[in-house]
Amino acid sequence: METIKNTKIKRSFIRIVILVLLVFSTSVFGQNMTVIPIHTKGTSLVYSVDKTNRLVFQYYGSRIEDIKPFYNQQSYRKLDTNRDLSYEAYPAFGLGNINEPAFAAIQSDGSLNTELEYIEHHTDTSVAGISHSIIKLRDKVYALEIELNTKAYYSEDVITQWVKIINHQSEAIMLKRFYSSFLKVNSGSYYLTHFYGPWAGEMQKVEEKIENGIKIIESKKGVRTTQGENPSFILSLDHPALENEGICYGGALAWSGNYRLSFQIDEWKNLNVLSGINPFLAEWNLKPGETFITPEMIYTFSNKGQGKVSRNFHRWGRKYGMTGGYEPHDIVLNSWEGAYFSFDEKTLNGMMDDAAKIGIEMFVLDDGWFGNKYPRNNDNAGLGDWQTNTKKLPHGLDYLIDHANSNGLKFGIWIEPEMVNPASELAERHPEWIVQSPGREKITWRHQLLLDLSNPQVQDFIYTIVDSLLTTHPKIEYIKWDANRHVEQVGSTYLPDSKQTHFWVAYTKGLYSVYDRIRKKYPDFVIQDCASGGGRLDYGALKFHNEFWTSDNTDPLSRIFIQYGTNLIYPPVATAAHVSTSPNHQTGRVTPLKFRFDVAMTGRLGMELQPKDIKGDDRVFAIEAINNYKKYIRPLVTAGDLYRLLSPYDEGGWASLLYVDPNKKTAALFAFSIEPHSRGLYPTVKLNGLDPVKDYTIKEINENGKSRFWGNGKTFNGEYLMNVGIELQISDQFDSAVFLLNED
Ligand code: DGJ
Repeated sequence: METIKNTKIKRSFIRIVILVLLVFSTSVFGQNMTVIPIHTKGTSLVYSVDKTNRLVFQYYGSRIEDIKPFYNQQSYRKLDTNRDLSYEAYPAFGLGNINEPAFAAIQSDGSLNTELEYIEHHTDTSVAGISHSIIKLRDKVYALEIELNTKAYYSEDVITQWVKIINHQSEAIMLKRFYSSFLKVNSGSYYLTHFYGPWAGEMQKVEEKIENGIKIIESKKGVRTTQGENPSFILSLDHPALENEGICYGGALAWSGNYRLSFQIDEWKNLNVLSGINPFLAEWNLKPGETFITPEMIYTFSNKGQGKVSRNFHRWGRKYGMTGGYEPHDIVLNSWEGAYFSFDEKTLNGMMDDAAKIGIEMFVLDDGWFGNKYPRNNDNAGLGDWQTNTKKLPHGLDYLIDHANSNGLKFGIWIEPEMVNPASELAERHPEWIVQSPGREKITWRHQLLLDLSNPQVQDFIYTIVDSLLTTHPKIEYIKWDANRHVEQVGSTYLPDSKQTHFWVAYTKGLYSVYDRIRKKYPDFVIQDCASGGGRLDYGALKFHNEFWTSDNTDPLSRIFIQYGTNLIYPPVATAAHVSTSPNHQTGRVTPLKFRFDVAMTGRLGMELQPKDIKGDDRVFAIEAINNYKKYIRPLVTAGDLYRLLSPYDEGGWASLLYVDPNKKTAALFAFSIEPHSRGLYPTVKLNGLDPVKDYTIKEINENGKSRFWGNGKTFNGEYLMNVGIELQISDQFDSAVFLLNED
């Protein structure tokens, strides 16, 4: 009798003893008291707390199921009995960290040191698919708290990270640097892919081996910060990044202000990666009780090359990193290259009539529609005066909107609300709203100056421009938000003298607060992110936008390179790509209309020309291509997975990519010959991402009277297409081909 009860008690006792032993062995004999694993479907990020209460970075990479070994993990870099030199999860300047720190502050008594210890952590899983871990750290001496936040997006294999800094003291402290995130990687060698480029040449991919010392990618432009370098990268271990093999880390900072990405190979050959706001002249005075929140750094990891990194970014971006990421986008005719500043109602109505006839879905009126005292007839005047120019458009905007609508077109409009021309009523009314350095002559860029968005009055003004445009003209369905200069002669008449260094962060936070107000009132409204082309391409801004203007360079050959780099990090559905006229206005290059269409159809298709200039066979082709895009390509660009098959950066002179729908039933293949090739030299394209056991029928579209594949109309299985591949008859420079694949 006694036995059943006793056996139960004995079992419970044994269980407790085992548990106590386990806890004892890990906490007393092991090196780490606590291990904090953060998992996604295929990746793990692991932190631990050591015996001295430091939060230690252990690992980020392929998923680790069994985290027990981390309890016993030891560092050989011991200095003394009470500490070692293992890497802090958020390295602060002060103790135990001899590399570039993520954090440094000057305390009110002048102390330069911070020593963070672990306090507690918890994980919030209330949002499906996302687990949010908050690890609280505190300085050992001063009442300074830092929360290290990590969100793990399970299915997308993405983690994001940021910190919240809280001053619990009765005195202010001066934050000197406050990065969002730290990452440590160890390998024999490190290869960094990053993206550079000036106006009209954005997002050119460059890859380099990181050598000892510190490699920095940054912007100090304040605004239009991605003209030059983009705050994103792909890091490949041991060899240059491959498309489908090898270990790659992807990173992108969600911040539209000054940023810095720092890659340091330290004396132990570990690579330290810091990402966040650029500390350059950006000291932040944190008053008692105040908090400072850094932007989010977005990471993904792949052990199957950079292709998976980009697909992870795209999936995450569509769902969490942009507005309306799964909405099909309208095909736009943008007025800029077709009309520039020279238009009247007749010109615009004519463009709309012609656009509607070839299947365009939306007309966007670009720059030049506003200003009366200072009419916007060129870029010298009018910015800031957002009233319709009554000379050019005597019947007002609604007249144009009605004309568009009566043609079955939606109507969109361009604004550049952060800027002002000195020749404007706004500059006369509010000279104090302009970014300026007292005593210095204001120097213009594109004849314009910048409004001071650190000032709440300016924030209200910009919000009101958008809000009144949309309430006065409720049939406007799209805004192109432009920004055509960066910060120079920094200075704010609003910020006190002691806080001038706050400008960079306050501007960007001011901009985000305007975006946020707009999004609260107009959650689904379509807004394009533009800054002289791709000058504000980052996940901080993209969150509030549906798409971005990839580049002012609409030359299809240039675009193959620009869009290749762009789509390594940012989703194709958001990548506005317009067919323009030939010779191209930026490069003077002459290219066939089919090539221009085929390139633009790999992103969000639009046009940027006078549609009446497309005549004869070209017109027939344009109508067919637009129709094909709507029927077949758009759904794949919107929600499909992108596989890069041939890189324009490789030798060979070809480029090819494939979109595959997530169910692997349909796909669209694009191939381009970007250099002249000698006779008989054709590319063999091996497809990817298909189902090897499915049969696919291949059909060429945008054919233009000549098929480029002997197997056109035939059926092949996925195994053949992915291993044997198909040879395409594209060889002359600017030859191109588009195929649809459909499961039988
Ligand atoms: C720069 C943009 O990138 C162009 O597309 C166009 O909108 C011009 N600004 C207008 O000024």
